[in-house]
Amino acid sequence: MNDYESTRYLGLPIAAAHPFRLAWTSRVHGGPQPDLIGARILEIGCGDGATLLPLAAHQSSWRVHGIDASRQAIGFAQDGALAANLANATFACEDLAASTVEADSWDIVIAHGVYSWIDPERRAALLRLAYSALAPNGLAYISFNALPGWSVRGTVRHALLHSHEQSHEVLDRMLAHVGADAWGSLLAAELRRARDCRDDYRVHEYLSAHNEAFWVGDFVRDAAANGLRWIGDAQFDLNEGRPYEQLRASLGIANPRAEEMIDLIGYRQLRCAVLARDNSPISAAPDDAALLHDAIIAGVIAPLRQPFILDDAIAESMRSAGGVDIDVQGSLAKAALLELARIYPSGLRYEDLLDHARRILHEHGLHTQADAHREVAEGVMRLWRAGALELRSHMPVVAGIRPNPPKVSAFTRYEATVRPAISSPLGILLPLDASDRAMVAQFDGSQTEFDLRKTGDETHVDELLDLLARWGLFVAN
Ligand SMILES: C[S@@+](CC[C@H](N)C(=O)[O-])C[C@H]1O[C@@H](n2cnc3c(N)ncnc32)[C@H](O)[C@@H]1O
Repeated sequence: MNDYESTRYLGLPIAAAHPFRLAWTSRVHGGPQPDLIGARILEIGCGDGATLLPLAAHQSSWRVHGIDASRQAIGFAQDGALAANLANATFACEDLAASTVEADSWDIVIAHGVYSWIDPERRAALLRLAYSALAPNGLAYISFNALPGWSVRGTVRHALLHSHEQSHEVLDRMLAHVGADAWGSLLAAELRRARDCRDDYRVHEYLSAHNEAFWVGDFVRDAAANGLRWIGDAQFDLNEGRPYEQLRASLGIANPRAEEMIDLIGYRQLRCAVLARDNSPISAAPDDAALLHDAIIAGVIAPLRQPFILDDAIAESMRSAGGVDIDVQGSLAKAALLELARIYPSGLRYEDLLDHARRILHEHGLHTQADAHREVAEGVMRLWRAGALELRSHMPVVAGIRPNPPKVSAFTRYEATVRPAISSPLGILLPLDASDRAMVAQFDGSQTEFDLRKTGDETHVDELLDLLARWGLFVAN
């Protein structure tokens, strides 16, 4: 029996492991591009299916299969597939070291929260399995606890493991004695994290039999010894809030060993490695023009004051959802950012974004300079590197409807019942509070908007319905 049999671990869909995200990471770094139409996706150590079930639910052409050594976790995953009627999701209780999954056939292989938490023999077996399972152009995602950032958390884990008392009360008592110096503030943050996390997370992160962190360079070496080439990190542009691409450029980083500088500066604790077979096609990383041509641009950068003047004559201050401040002067760039904010979470291809922005200016009687598009192109790439705009490889067709009576899929209702957040077709999580989730769980097409308004605050009901429509979560009655 592993730790996961005795304490249920409640999973959450992992946005970084989403196939669209992996394909884009590989595109940016010149790695292989799996064909995602009809993709086959394998998850090793899939837990209760939190990551796989939404993939099967939101992309009916995908076939997902999860393996896990915990019978209990596989039972939960199978219950989820049954509740949401997902015939394209299967699960099997297997130890990864003795897996029977088909070789050479998986476009995407995911192992999240597994590598650090198993013994060294199984760690090697995980790399071997990822290699043998991958299709020739496939991509693997393997996350692991990263050094040096995780070392402070590891120290707290050791202290807890050695103590006779492992509850959050002991963490509270320790916190009362932590000093105000540099070590104290770092330690306090980690003690608070351990105290405030969910009980099941504390058991698995801090008290599990195995939990080891690695330097990214060592991981890359061990993966290479098993035929897997490191492509990049699935959070290559998001270093836990730091603009990663900007750091990489200013530190002149060009290989995985040098990436360790970023991990040192960023106090990074988790790595999300994207790997491919070492004989898969690799090309030079595309330049900005090629990336921009392929990308779907999305993001919310909002004006900091009103009225917002579109005219070129005035520089306006704007702020991204993540808090990046910018000044924008060109009218085409301003109109493009307003349009992106209006349509979020949808996005636009670059040429379409220019068309929309020109239309907005035309409606305001404004003209653009012939070369204004250059400011937009350079600005988009700069803002992406600063972590203020998203570039994506795929834009799933989302229905964008708001039926009355409101109806979401059986899967969304299931997710609203069992998890603290709801997944979207884009692979981005939509956190909702418990009362909103309880309402979503009832959206089976049996109550009209009028019925719902009678039971709750009208504005709130409207906002929730709007939100779900924007994220493409409604289905036709
Ligand atoms: C932290 S959980 C992560 C679950 C899931 N990937 C997620 O992100 O929610 C680690 C999972 O790995 C599974 N696991 C541990 N050792 C395993 C092994 N030898 N073979 C297969 N699964 C294993 C555990 O049962 C557990 O469900």
